[in-house]
Amino acid sequence: MTEKAAAIAVKKANGRYYTPAWIVGEMLDMAGYAGPSILGRHIMENSCGDGAFLAEIVRRYCVAAAESGKSKAACRADLQEFIHGLEIDAAEHAKCVGSVSAVAAEYGVFGVDWDIGCADALAVTKYNGKMDFVVGNPPYVRVHNLSNYSGVKRFGFAQSGMTDLFIVFYEIGLAMLNEGGTLCYINPSSIFNSVAGAAARRHFVTERLLTKVADLKHYQPFKATTYTTIMTLSKRNRKDELEYYEYNAPTGRLAFMSNIRYDSAYIDGSYYFADNASLSEVKRILRRNPPRGVFDVKNGFATLCDSFFIGDLGFSDYTIPIVKASTGRVSACFFPYDKDGRPLPYEALTKKPQIKNHYERHAGALRARSLESPDVWHVFGRSQGIKDVYKHKYAINTLIRGKGDIKLTPCDPGVGVYGGLYILTEESYDVLKQMLFSPGFSAYVKALGKYKSGGYYTFSSKDLLKYLDYKHSERNGYCNEQQCILDRT
Ligand SMILES: C[S@@+](CC[C@H](N)C(=O)[O-])C[C@H]1O[C@@H](n2cnc3c(N)ncnc32)[C@H](O)[C@@H]1O
Repeated sequence: MTEKAAAIAVKKANGRYYTPAWIVGEMLDMAGYAGPSILGRHIMENSCGDGAFLAEIVRRYCVAAAESGKSKAACRADLQEFIHGLEIDAAEHAKCVGSVSAVAAEYGVFGVDWDIGCADALAVTKYNGKMDFVVGNPPYVRVHNLSNYSGVKRFGFAQSGMTDLFIVFYEIGLAMLNEGGTLCYINPSSIFNSVAGAAARRHFVTERLLTKVADLKHYQPFKATTYTTIMTLSKRNRKDELEYYEYNAPTGRLAFMSNIRYDSAYIDGSYYFADNASLSEVKRILRRNPPRGVFDVKNGFATLCDSFFIGDLGFSDYTIPIVKASTGRVSACFFPYDKDGRPLPYEALTKKPQIKNHYERHAGALRARSLESPDVWHVFGRSQGIKDVYKHKYAINTLIRGKGDIKLTPCDPGVGVYGGLYILTEESYDVLKQMLFSPGFSAYVKALGKYKSGGYYTFSSKDLLKYLDYKHSERNGYCNEQQCILDRT
């Protein structure tokens, strides 16, 4: 491994993405670490890297100390007593100590014996119950990249799903807080709905800890393909609502949006954030259980080799028209199946010389796919969508920014769909259009919070089915006792 590759591997294993200064400032403000009240209060950054938070913390402390008339010697003693850090990587740890020393020196404070340890924060318990503030950007390391898997799995927040190290940092951070302490972290917004985050989400709400959420939405402060959120938890909190903020692109800052009650944002174990009216609607959509069977929503074909099966094939035997759900474009698809969706034998198909030739030219790519049925290499990679070819359906795309991006394409029996979803229903095109081209549908998709690059949002077949079932029952007045109670709450 080259030196550069080794450095990248260490960076990945330690989940190292550094926080920009403006976010550090916003987070310390959100936590309440500002002004003269910070004097004599303990603060910990437990995965401090090269000291993004600690540098600003030291700056704020030195300013507050000077303004309150503290001597340089008293300020040095305070920095040693009240500012704490942990970092597992020796090189980053050394950079951090250098960085905070440089900030203190700007304020004439020298020779600080910092309480910044080079250690695995998961194994450190000496700060438990003592911190007024815990802040930071904990490491994002998925379970399959963790070197210390068993050390992580012993934590209560790490029991379900494919856990991530940052979730465990919530548990150790909360343990470090004293009875009135406040924690503020920035981390992936997957914590809103991942299986791995379920125990943490429940704990934050049932213990009334969650006080502020800032959803950075499509803004990605780190050069990683992850969307992020800032969450503040306070052990002093007694309310069952939180302050909700969003990243505001024109100002490049966080903007307060609204106060949201826990029971509006916490729906069936996941967190949803939007305006209160959209959240009520989302809750009704997700909770309603209307009579099923009017709609079905499924994924289109997955050939796993579109260049072989779809496009300008040069022959027409065994082909069907196919709609690309993401664009509505129609092309030709080689469909090596009978009317019941059973694969046709290779020998039968290749009696046609052009088809034989086509297979021979692409055999390598076809065999290299990760196939659902490894022995049948000459058909689609997955069987999804195949049995519905001879039904009437509507293709629909899954990436939208608003209703203007929705592509709903009617498909006659005999037409295939790929590159998105399709809806099976007896309802008319006009009825479907009324349901989907409404502001309600885009608001619902946005509130699901599944961000994609370019300002887009996505949704799954299940999400769409829930919406259609809800809209259908709303139009037809279905309401069982439980749902009516829910609608009134
Ligand atoms: C996402 S970076 C954040 C660094 C810094 N807090 C910032 O915001 O710029 C996470 C840091 O956690 C460190 N780290 C990873 N695992 C750790 C552990 N078990 N204990 C302490 N630090 C750890 C990494 O080396 C990395 O510097």
